[in-house]
Amino acid sequence: MLKNLMTLARPALFALAPEKAHRLTIEILKQGFFPRQQGTDDERLNQTLWGLNFPNPLGMAAGFDKNAEVPDVLLQMGFGFCEIGTVTPKPQAGNPTPRVFRLIEDRAIINRLGFNNEGHKAVLARLLARPHHGINGIIGVNIGANKQTKDKTADYVAGLTAFYQVADYFTINISSPNTPGLRDLQSPQALENLLAQLMTTRATLAQQQPDQRTVPILIKLAPDIPANDLPEIIATLRQHHVDGIIVSNTTLSRDGLSEDHNARQTGGLSGRPLFLRSTAMLGEIYRLTEGQIPLIGVGGIDSAKAAIAKIEAGATLLQLYTGLIYEGPGLIDEIKRGLITMMQHNGLTSLSQATGRQAVTWAAKWSKMN
Ligand SMILES: Cc1cc2nc3c(=O)[nH]c(=O)nc-3n(C[C@H](O)[C@H](O)[C@H](O)COP(=O)(O)O)c2cc1C
Repeated sequence: MLKNLMTLARPALFALAPEKAHRLTIEILKQGFFPRQQGTDDERLNQTLWGLNFPNPLGMAAGFDKNAEVPDVLLQMGFGFCEIGTVTPKPQAGNPTPRVFRLIEDRAIINRLGFNNEGHKAVLARLLARPHHGINGIIGVNIGANKQTKDKTADYVAGLTAFYQVADYFTINISSPNTPGLRDLQSPQALENLLAQLMTTRATLAQQQPDQRTVPILIKLAPDIPANDLPEIIATLRQHHVDGIIVSNTTLSRDGLSEDHNARQTGGLSGRPLFLRSTAMLGEIYRLTEGQIPLIGVGGIDSAKAAIAKIEAGATLLQLYTGLIYEGPGLIDEIKRGLITMMQHNGLTSLSQATGRQAVTWAAKWSKMN
């Protein structure tokens, strides 16, 4: 019933400016108006990774719940995990509005929000106040750097330190196109320095925990990384033993778009037009990592078919954002059911058996497009 209501609410939300619609959605979710998942996930969707038990592989991508206002709602809706953030040390207003644009025909969004968020202190307080904090559901914390900061690395170190006790995993977001200079941290040399500092900090923080817990560190990459740099970047990530790679953030490319006037807006493009490039990059990274590092596939997932393609390209876990805007919350269940059907058809007992089995094909597409 509520699922139908949410579908009916979509035209009303689309009548509002995108950021207003997003704010209203968060408020509605906070009030408890959302479709709850019925029962528990099919066991075939369960996975244990980094010592965490994921009830299903589909997560809410970063950017929807930047300030950790509704992580438990998202988990109750049926997501297997939720990534909050990006959070920066100091609160930040972000870029002038308007800064989020729908490209309806393309089923895409362009955003140049620029890390608008309430900062470490406010977001940490919210996570600490969660009922059953630490027990119920997996929450990743996506950390970034303030626009004005001189030493960006110090902002990431501050993020690790601030959220260490509440994060199930960390995402180091060095791939947002909306903070000047941020993506320079993806260059092999800058990455080397950043990772060295992060891993040293994590070792110290782990020792200080009562259970000496080592919180996994994942790196989120942009799909616009120069193809020639990718092997060296991946080698650096492997040398530093990062626990996972998220492929990918939004793109600056405008390939494959219709004539929508919003296509000319500055910012990162997400949704269906991102699917091809981000999935090809995923296949290439699976090939480069030889399947040794868990990958989270994100970018343009708006159907079960797209979700299955991500897994076959090399993803162990999945995330989505834009698909939820266009398809509504029914998409979560649709994807999970589609995964089970695919497993039944192929006689698979676990999703990991499908991971990467089309990686070679997708990696070939990557070489062709670069
Ligand atoms: C409005 C909006 C805000 C976003 N904010 C963030 C963010 O703060 N941090 C981040 O790592 N990614 C952010 N993203 C990127 C998403 O997490 C995701 O990587 C990207 O949108 C591709 O997935 P999708 O096609 O399913 O949306 C944002 C995306 C959108 C559409």
